[in-house]
Amino acid sequence: MGRTRRVLGVLTRLALCQSSQVGRMTSPVCVIVVGAGCRGENYSQFASVHPKRMKVVAVADPRKFARTKLQQQHNIDDKNVFEDWQSIAEREKFADAVLICTPDRVHKDPAVAFANKGYHILLEKPMATTAEECTAIVEACTKNGVMLSVGHVLRYDPVIHKIKELIDAGVIGDVIHIQHLEPVGFYHFAHSFVRGNWSNEAKSSFALLAKSCHDIDLIHHWAGPRRCVKVSSFGSVSHFQKEKKPTGAGDCCLDCSIERQCPYSACKIYLDQVKRGHTGWPVSVICPNSLPDIESVTEALRAGPYGRCVYECDNDVCSNQVVNMEFEGGLTAAFSMVAFTEKLCNRKTNIYGSKGELSYDENEIRVFDFLTQKATRHTASSDAPRHFGMSGHGGADYHLMNAFISAVENNDPSLIRSGPEETLVSHLLVFEAERSRVENRVVYCGDSSWSKKTTEH
Ligand SMILES: NC(=O)c1ccc[n+]([C@@H]2O[C@H](COP(=O)([O-])OP(=O)(O)OC[C@H]3O[C@@H](n4cnc5c(N)ncnc54)[C@H](O)[C@@H]3O)[C@@H](O)[C@H]2O)c1
Repeated sequence: MGRTRRVLGVLTRLALCQSSQVGRMTSPVCVIVVGAGCRGENYSQFASVHPKRMKVVAVADPRKFARTKLQQQHNIDDKNVFEDWQSIAEREKFADAVLICTPDRVHKDPAVAFANKGYHILLEKPMATTAEECTAIVEACTKNGVMLSVGHVLRYDPVIHKIKELIDAGVIGDVIHIQHLEPVGFYHFAHSFVRGNWSNEAKSSFALLAKSCHDIDLIHHWAGPRRCVKVSSFGSVSHFQKEKKPTGAGDCCLDCSIERQCPYSACKIYLDQVKRGHTGWPVSVICPNSLPDIESVTEALRAGPYGRCVYECDNDVCSNQVVNMEFEGGLTAAFSMVAFTEKLCNRKTNIYGSKGELSYDENEIRVFDFLTQKATRHTASSDAPRHFGMSGHGGADYHLMNAFISAVENNDPSLIRSGPEETLVSHLLVFEAERSRVENRVVYCGDSSWSKKTTEH
């Protein structure tokens, strides 16, 4: 059955490639990359690792450096290199799938347009920046019968996936309470959420959506079929404020007399790194038009946003936020996101059940059984190729791509763990949590018109 499905999937793809004038009788899934930045380049590497399974046939990005780099990496024909996604969406369909890796506010329009053209879609998280837009994306994908996978990479982390398997196997009995921490990392927060792309809500999105939609999605997933009934949240921008600026600090780290005493100094985060030969993230993403070296990084700090004093930015997104949730049946969950941590994104989770306690910390799960009073340890290995390593996600980016490409190959959406319906519900929960924070009240889930619409589906 599986084999038949796979063969049918391959035949369908061949037909698609042929009918869309790609003109090749090869079997790779033909993919268009929209947004050739950090994530677009990352996901595209799947084609380098598995050239028989995926081929990047087109790219769109307004940055010449980014699109040319991707074009060269994947040998993309000149006629398929574009400055924006609209130019591709205007053409007849000529590939199987599109990877949408544009900034948060450029998700909904391309996603709906490409769904209407019949492309299967891998859409970076967050799906979009409003509940209405997220709903519109899911409706467009459903209406057009295309697959949607959202970039909730943690769902594909083998150890995190194991947590769900253990819960479902009943090892801790009924889940009673979930406690989950997302430590962002002090310099990661300064890079992304004070100086960088996700620092200002009007330009990108609020922190709970930009950073923690993964985590609310996991909590929702671990809660199983139980619906969240009410949510409350508090949070604020702490420390990264003008009034916290130390006396004598400059506006640009390159000119700051007290830079050596500042843990958030751009000289430490970028310039010292490149001087030591480290050109990976975050150094790799601050030079928009060139590869990073001492000269280009110095220039980026001088002229761009990443050299700014962290106390002099236009940041307004929360640096610390808590979300409390009550699910049907009385299951409670408490989530914390905090900027000021040593660890970068290494989540910590405790799940308390009627028969035992499960704790997760980085690569290991420990289960304590109340009856035997014994602890067992569990882990799961990743077969992600090392040269496909993506910082922070421990191979999960690879597994997400593998699942998406397998789903397209086999015409089987069940291979996608971050599909439209469940992802939409967990995104709506994020919007409800943020509403609670902003309106300073408990929010009863499903109160708003868009939530009602979704639950009625
Ligand atoms: N899944 C995850 O864990 C994860 C991690 C980081 C970022 N993200 C999300 O991925 C998305 C991309 O983030 P990134 O770090 O790659 O950002 P990035 O800035 O490195 O890349 C975005 C690219 O989109 C391009 N772009 C902008 N407008 C465009 C248009 N109209 N048409 C085509 N391209 C356009 C930009 O020039 C840029 O090169 C964001 O939504 C972000 O929140 C997800």
